[in-house]
Amino acid sequence: MQSSAVINEAVQTLRDGGLVAFPIETVYGLWADAKNPQVIHKVFATKGRPSNHPLIVHLAAPDRFDQAQVDWVPILAPWTRDLSEDTLKLINAFWPGSLTLVFKKDKSVLNDLTGGQDTVAIRAPAHPIAQELLRKFKGGVVAPSANRFGKVSLTSAADVRAEFEDVLDLMILDGGDCEIGIESTIIDLSSGDKAVLPRPGAITPSEILAKTGVNVYQPNELKSDEAMEDLPKISGSLKAHYAPTTPLRLYAPGRVLDALSEFPDINSRVAVAVWDSESSLSEDGHRSAHCEEIEVPSDSTAFASRLYRSLRDLDQPGWDLILFPEPPAGEKWDGVRDRLQRACFGSGPSSSGHVNT
Ligand code: TXA
Ligand code: MG
Repeated sequence: MQSSAVINEAVQTLRDGGLVAFPIETVYGLWADAKNPQVIHKVFATKGRPSNHPLIVHLAAPDRFDQAQVDWVPILAPWTRDLSEDTLKLINAFWPGSLTLVFKKDKSVLNDLTGGQDTVAIRAPAHPIAQELLRKFKGGVVAPSANRFGKVSLTSAADVRAEFEDVLDLMILDGGDCEIGIESTIIDLSSGDKAVLPRPGAITPSEILAKTGVNVYQPNELKSDEAMEDLPKISGSLKAHYAPTTPLRLYAPGRVLDALSEFPDINSRVAVAVWDSESSLSEDGHRSAHCEEIEVPSDSTAFASRLYRSLRDLDQPGWDLILFPEPPAGEKWDGVRDRLQRACFGSGPSSSGHVNT
């Protein structure tokens, strides 16, 4: 837990136009005042992120009363008035929590933070220290995930420190490891028509349907090309993202050898993630290289909470290849499957070239 003095210092840093790295329940974020264009430019520069990839605004209810009783309409008023009945159902069911919603933005919301789009993404984090900081700050705070653009997101203060060791004026609060471990689910409601899922996360479309009756559509379910073009720019939707520098591949059940065939060098050192529920790979499963097995949880929630930690730990010079098992079918695995597939695509020594195109 952080002392109030440290939280007050973080609030002051935000007011002074500084950057603070801080955990939310999902991943660590790089926080900055959402009303200060200079520091918003600094967020983009620090991450190395193109300025047309919009940021999420984080808000908290002003007091620590029963969260189920919060009236979010006045809290959202300075950011959006685009609140349909479905939107309010989602807000009341899932805020505070790991659900980000995309709205048509109010004129006063800085174009610098929305990448020039007429929409704004907003979430209300559940993390108690994040809430305390937001309450004391009394305003909106932007926070992208605290990692260099296209790279693996981070879930511990030590990793953030290592990633940004050259950013000397970055204040880093150690709020422990993040519980959920992958970024929030994003639902885009800005078309005013259908709720669309640009980024899967821990909160799934079935859970949304069950709790609110709102149907959520996958972007590819939108029929017209025009609708696809209208989908906002979203860096998490780049084919290559969340990527380690060491090549990463997925293997189908029992097919480690196939995945290794791309790397025939007998001296290759390969980290093979195996389900903790299964006995280890058979001897002849990895003749062609030196393989070491690392167990990964076969429960989707536990897997998500350790995914970035494992990728980061394995992304070290000692390994030539990282193999992960393909996540099983099923919606509860969609969030990690999405991150792993993009991480594979962008992985390898030339990954930054890939990502920045
Ligand atoms: O869990 C999270 O969501 C973390 C924590 C720190 O809040 N944040 C996060 O931010 O993942 P970032 O910037 O790394 O990813 C936010 C995603 C980006 O892919 C961005 O393009 C999308 O949200 N986004 C932001 N504003 C948007 C908008 N107006 N329309 C559509 N997508 C938007
Ligand atoms: Mg990110």
